[in-house]
Amino acid sequence: MRFERSHTRKAVASAVVGSLLLLASACGGDDSSSGGGATTGVAALEGKGPITFATGKDTSGFLPDQVAAWNSQHPDEKVTVSELPESADGQRQQMVQNAQNKQDSFSVLNLDVVWTAEFAANRWILELPQDQFPSLGKAIPATVETAKYRDKLYAVPITSDGGLLYYRKDLLDKAGVTPPTTWDEMLAACQKVAALPEGKGVNCYAGQFEKYEGLTVNFSEAVNSAGGVVVGKDGKPNVDTPEALAGLEELTKGFASGAIPKAAITYKEEEGRRAFQDGKLLFHRNWPYVYALASKTDGSSKVAGKFGVAPLPGKTGPGVSTLGGHNYAISAFAKNKATAADFIKFMASEERQRANLQASSQAPSWASLYDDPALNKTFPYLAPLKASIEKAQPRPSVVKYGDVTAAVQEAAYDALTSKKQPKQALTDLQTKLSSLITQ
Ligand code: GLC
Repeated sequence: MRFERSHTRKAVASAVVGSLLLLASACGGDDSSSGGGATTGVAALEGKGPITFATGKDTSGFLPDQVAAWNSQHPDEKVTVSELPESADGQRQQMVQNAQNKQDSFSVLNLDVVWTAEFAANRWILELPQDQFPSLGKAIPATVETAKYRDKLYAVPITSDGGLLYYRKDLLDKAGVTPPTTWDEMLAACQKVAALPEGKGVNCYAGQFEKYEGLTVNFSEAVNSAGGVVVGKDGKPNVDTPEALAGLEELTKGFASGAIPKAAITYKEEEGRRAFQDGKLLFHRNWPYVYALASKTDGSSKVAGKFGVAPLPGKTGPGVSTLGGHNYAISAFAKNKATAADFIKFMASEERQRANLQASSQAPSWASLYDDPALNKTFPYLAPLKASIEKAQPRPSVVKYGDVTAAVQEAAYDALTSKKQPKQALTDLQTKLSSLITQ
């Protein structure tokens, strides 16, 4: 009890000192703004030594190689990986808890692009000096935007992400159809394949529909791909529209007709990937990382060499992806901040980004890799992926993102599970978002 009290007092005292320091550095930063590159006044990143790296579960199996490459060159500044859960929500929960307790156990944070505002506004991550991260000038500009809050840099883009439509090329060829660009074409292709003997036991389509961040992504994509918005360019929610309804109804009708299998309501990325790899889906919406895993010829994938990748389908033509990806940030409570910054620089370098793409098929943030002829041969989806990322819709950049995404997930889930009519779900969502996002 006594320990707890003095511990709390100490924490309060250090928080006050911390806030004053941050306040001082923020004031300095404001004075020195130089054309978007306000780096003077940003607190110096000091201290070298061992650090930890908190990141979601490594589905690629390549992270140990990346970290080993750093560790062999930096024996006194070794990185230890803290592997967090597979799902975005599970990762956020642990990182938030850690930050709220002001713990120094995570030095570098692998942040989902949607968490920047929340972590920056709460001062859980440090503002970064832009001139110390040369990769920023090489990154797809949309990815750099996701690393900023109020025009200041708080993280460095490492991987981007755009939704792709994986399809069974062997089955489409058999049925004599080309990859669809609209939802209607996709459903028609499913009917043709279902009529083939080879189509037995193959469901039409699945994305990620479990109640978590992936549902926010899939719902937003459906809405955007039908010409609607969740939050408009003016920052105001505008989801109670006929366009948004048309998008949501593609999904609700899909569940009602069986085009989307019932089991997909429990799918996050990995469950969907396994269903596709097991040959149970004709079409599957997922991120680029699936490409490498579904192409494995070690017996883990039944569809290696049998699938293709296309842009997401939309209402009247190709759809719109939600912008995904991950940025690395430095925890405000970290020790050895200089090492943390150097590790981020290392992971953001062209060499490491190329190696990661080659091993994991994850979307790099480094723009020129998408135009590299050799890489395009190995990963034929790179050109359409770059186009998809460049026109992808970001999710709202708001401090209360946790509440916003929970509201979206609830509305979408209620509609998909027939708890609410789609129209009612959107009307309720609009009311909820309007109270959460006040400008
Ligand atoms: C991917 C994306 C991320 C998104 C998440 C949803 O990891 O990169 O931005 O939030 O999927 O599940």
